[in-house]
Amino acid sequence: AAPSGAETSSPANPIKNVVVYGSGLMGSGIVQVAAQHQYQVTMVDLGADHLKKGQGYIEASLKRVARKKFADSDAQQKAFVEDTLSRIQLSTDPEAAATTADLIVEAIVENINTKRSLFSSLDQVAPKHAIFTSNTSSLPISELASATKRQDRFAGLHFFNPVPQMKLVEVVSTAEVNPTVINDLTQFCLSLKKAPVNCKDTPGFIVNRLLVPYLMEAVRLVERGEATPKDVDTAMKLGAGYPMGPFELLDYIGLDTCKFILDGWYKEGKGLAGDKLVRPSERLNELVAKGDLGRKSGKGFYSY
Ligand code: 3HC
Repeated sequence: AAPSGAETSSPANPIKNVVVYGSGLMGSGIVQVAAQHQYQVTMVDLGADHLKKGQGYIEASLKRVARKKFADSDAQQKAFVEDTLSRIQLSTDPEAAATTADLIVEAIVENINTKRSLFSSLDQVAPKHAIFTSNTSSLPISELASATKRQDRFAGLHFFNPVPQMKLVEVVSTAEVNPTVINDLTQFCLSLKKAPVNCKDTPGFIVNRLLVPYLMEAVRLVERGEATPKDVDTAMKLGAGYPMGPFELLDYIGLDTCKFILDGWYKEGKGLAGDKLVRPSERLNELVAKGDLGRKSGKGFYSY
């Protein structure tokens, strides 16, 4: 078998130590996948309680992967989980964690000022060679990169939920990034057994640029009373081969997340601001205002 990336510390793979900021669903998923593929990973969050929750996600998901990988052996499943966990360190000190990073992946709250301020402080302490990336799904990469003095070593690295299962990673280039950085990130994705695609720094990159308007068209169809969410979901699963219908997926992603992306684009998305494709939806706004955010709150378009 081909050696996984981290085991070969060659010029072809300058990445060994990965530091992930944010221990939510995306951050913890990225930590897990990197650790599974032999990288040394540090997961950073503000408090021990956040980290504990993230570690819980990782353990549950690793057990799922292990059951599949070693269906016949409890002992091998256990060893796999323990071996993977042994490569993960936890930290509540963002700057200390960055000092040994080859690659930084940011997956914290989708707030431009919070992200810029994190990147600006990490820029002071991280090694010169370290590559900075953001997993943002809604903010321009160039606006995050400009908080640092390493715009040539800054790119988007956009994973999909659930990270351990979804193969795709969007590797996002700004006008300033050095092509060797994009190459290193592409190799990194391949070493995680992911399928990277390249794209430019535009709202939604590839997947969300197509997915969000599609999801919103489904909401508008229901708003107009033309079909129920359940029938729309059945239609798209059985008529278009999607694994989840749009309302199942909206609940899965989180209605607050979708609203946040939509509102941001409608207000100031490059090439999208004011476009009726991304106009606000009363139905979505009402659900979010009530706290019905989807699976994570127990209720969204469906009840869980
Ligand atoms: N960890 C590890 N493995 C997982 C997992 C997890 N958290 N979640 C699911 N899996 C694996 C299961 O083990 C199973 O593996 P197998 O088929 O090899 O046995 C496989 O995924 C299927 O899982 P299930 O049988 O439990 O359930 P489903 O068949 O219903 O699949 C799903 C679940 C993978 C989530 C599938 O419904 C799906 O692909 N849905 C679409 C998800 C999607 O579109 N994601 C993108 C969202 S957009 C986004 O992330 C961008 C953001 O910026 C907004």
